[in-house]
Amino acid sequence: MGLGRKLLGGPDGHADDGSGGLIRRARLYEFFSAVGFGGFRRRVFDGLVALAGAQPGDEVLDIGCGTGYFSRRAARAVLPGGRVVGIDPSPPVIDYARRVAPLHCTFRLAGAEALPLHDASIDLVISSLAVHHIPPELRATALREAFRVLRPGGRLFIADFRPPRSRIANRLVGMLSGHAMQHNPIHELAGLISGAGFEITGSGDRRPLLHYVHATRP
Ligand SMILES: C[S@@+](CC[C@H](N)C(=O)[O-])C[C@H]1O[C@@H](n2cnc3c(N)ncnc32)[C@H](O)[C@@H]1O
Repeated sequence: MGLGRKLLGGPDGHADDGSGGLIRRARLYEFFSAVGFGGFRRRVFDGLVALAGAQPGDEVLDIGCGTGYFSRRAARAVLPGGRVVGIDPSPPVIDYARRVAPLHCTFRLAGAEALPLHDASIDLVISSLAVHHIPPELRATALREAFRVLRPGGRLFIADFRPPRSRIANRLVGMLSGHAMQHNPIHELAGLISGAGFEITGSGDRRPLLHYVHATRP
């Protein structure tokens, strides 16, 4: 397990299943996230919001929202009239997200594999840096859940960690963050998404080390 996972997962947050597990140290995660993006976190996430195509009036779901930074940035783009709901199975990050979010941004304690939302109730599902935290055997179920809650014509945007290609940088990621990030099978993401019934509409890389896929529910 990497140093970061030990620090952020807390005594029982780490997973032995090849996933990143739960983030339990919310304030520390916020700090590492801000520092990790080298002062460009807002620019990176506003870029992701734009790529996701969040529109005024959209009902948005953020899967694996953690402390809610992506939710909060998306919440700005859906005004007037829109709302964002974030879900995460870790109580401390949901508590943190609730404390700092605007009123039209709410949070629920849940895993991506069992979303507490009605069928066809969402316009846009977003997710950042979270798929590699979902246990591998639940990822296909999680994407089918995203499909279920989206309206026909609804959109999916997932950005996740792309392991660096350089061997040295890759090893460094392993030491700092652990197996789940170092060996994240990012090339499987598009297949998982289309396997859940989505039509892929685009994909690409984003600095610093993100890969994204967007798709629609037919
Ligand atoms: C690295 S954080 C990303 C948080 C946030 N999206 C961001 O970009 O800062 C990954 C999150 O996935 C959550 N997670 C773990 N298992 C999950 C599951 N089964 N369903 C949804 N989220 C999960 C963790 O608790 C953690 O908050």
